Amino acid sequence: MADNLDLVTIEEAARAVGKTPHNIRDYIQRGRISKYNERGEIIERAQNGHLRVSLKEIRIFLSLVEQGLEKHHHAGLHPELGFHNVPEYQRTKHVHRLHPYLGKFIPQLVEWFLARYFQPDDIILDPFMGSGTTLIQGNEMRMHTIGIDISPFNCLIARVKAAKYDVAKARSEILETEQRVTRFSKYLTRSGAVNLSLFPEERMDTLKASLLEECTSDYLKTWFAPRALLEMLYYRRLIPHYHYQDLLRVVLSRAVRSSRLVPHYDLATPKAPLPVGEKYWCKKHNRYCVPIDNCITKIHAYSRDTARRIAEFDQLRSDKTITIIQADSRTVDLRAELSHTTIANRLIDGIFTSPPYVGQIDYHDQHVYAYELFGFPRQDELEIGPKKRGKSKQAQREYVDGIVAVFLNILPSVKPDGKIFIVANDRFDLYPEIANLSGLRIVDKFHRAVTKRTEQGDDPYQETIFFMMKD
Ligand SMILES: C[S@@+](CC[C@H](N)C(=O)[O-])C[C@H]1O[C@@H](n2cnc3c(N)ncnc32)[C@H](O)[C@@H]1O
Repeated sequence: MADNLDLVTIEEAARAVGKTPHNIRDYIQRGRISKYNERGEIIERAQNGHLRVSLKEIRIFLSLVEQGLEKHHHAGLHPELGFHNVPEYQRTKHVHRLHPYLGKFIPQLVEWFLARYFQPDDIILDPFMGSGTTLIQGNEMRMHTIGIDISPFNCLIARVKAAKYDVAKARSEILETEQRVTRFSKYLTRSGAVNLSLFPEERMDTLKASLLEECTSDYLKTWFAPRALLEMLYYRRLIPHYHYQDLLRVVLSRAVRSSRLVPHYDLATPKAPLPVGEKYWCKKHNRYCVPIDNCITKIHAYSRDTARRIAEFDQLRSDKTITIIQADSRTVDLRAELSHTTIANRLIDGIFTSPPYVGQIDYHDQHVYAYELFGFPRQDELEIGPKKRGKSKQAQREYVDGIVAVFLNILPSVKPDGKIFIVANDRFDLYPEIANLSGLRIVDKFHRAVTKRTEQGDDPYQETIFFMMKD
């Protein structure tokens, strides 16, 4: 327990001791100072906006450093794997920012390992593909990539990132849809230069009624303002008229996510919808904000952005295969799934993956709005280590069994000297046992500071990249 008066935010601590916020995060990650909550209790993970550090602890640490009695660089963090100098726009370059996703790693981390341990034309598998970061980065480096994920929506995001497009046609479909919804929005609000004779009053009423009739989801009716709901339902209705339907679904889903009645500082894990039109104190902007009441603003924000991003990746995309499989990695028949591809008879050269961790994230729930909007079938009960099952000893046991089952299922498709990289924040020290039970040995471990994980909030932590091979 620390003295409450001594507790400050990272920014306040930095100002008080003449360091940068990045320095303070670094001390935390190297285990030199502790993380506290507002009540002064030492914590392992901080919620966004609630992390506190002890000024007294920082001052003692800095004075020990000055006297040569303490070192900064103690915790064995790999100097190149923090990627502190990689700016945000590169960490989210081209299609990596087509859609938010809690728990994705940055492409630079994948690149660092693929460049050192693999060759062009190798086959790389990610059995916990998520939004497809490994697949896109591997393809850029002229490697064949395969991704498996249990969640249909994650597979949709990955497919949309990986797809080869007629870029001009994709752009025109995105912009035309945006324009049509803009017109609808203007009719809806009677704003701007609207030619009302094109859309008479009764027709508008019928249209609104039929859109609302199509909406059978209580979630959508609760988490969106009435205007936002109508705009997104109208966009959804237009999608079947176009060729690149999944691409349009991703633009819409991204806009819908940002149009929920949630505070700006909690887009990733909101608890309950805010009342329409009511001000709230926004921790992100440090002022009063009002929840968004429409969807068109975000449709505008993401339409051109999406078109630009797919055009950018189109320039970098290699002709190597990208295979996306929606399945449970414990039971998927990889050989059958690959039988129709040009890599059907080859063994896999390596794995680069970040599995879910025990009780950390519910991967379906984070995109509940998309499941409700598009009606994708949910596979929650097949997720390994979901948050809703907690972190108990029993949950850890089930987690180990789940991850081992994945390796036992896929390792027969991997070369005898295949290289396996697993990114995990293994705070329960489960991976040595997982390796053992999977017939793998740990060749090396790389520890990295994670300050730059997108969507992960402001809580500094470390993770380990386990390098394993068949025993
Ligand atoms: C940490 S995320 C991977 C993130 C990814 N590296 C990225 O950059 O987007 C773990 C993923 O494992 C998936 N997953 C959980 N259980 C699974 C299972 N039984 N089979 C396949 N995938 C599963 C989750 O849906 C989630 O997308």
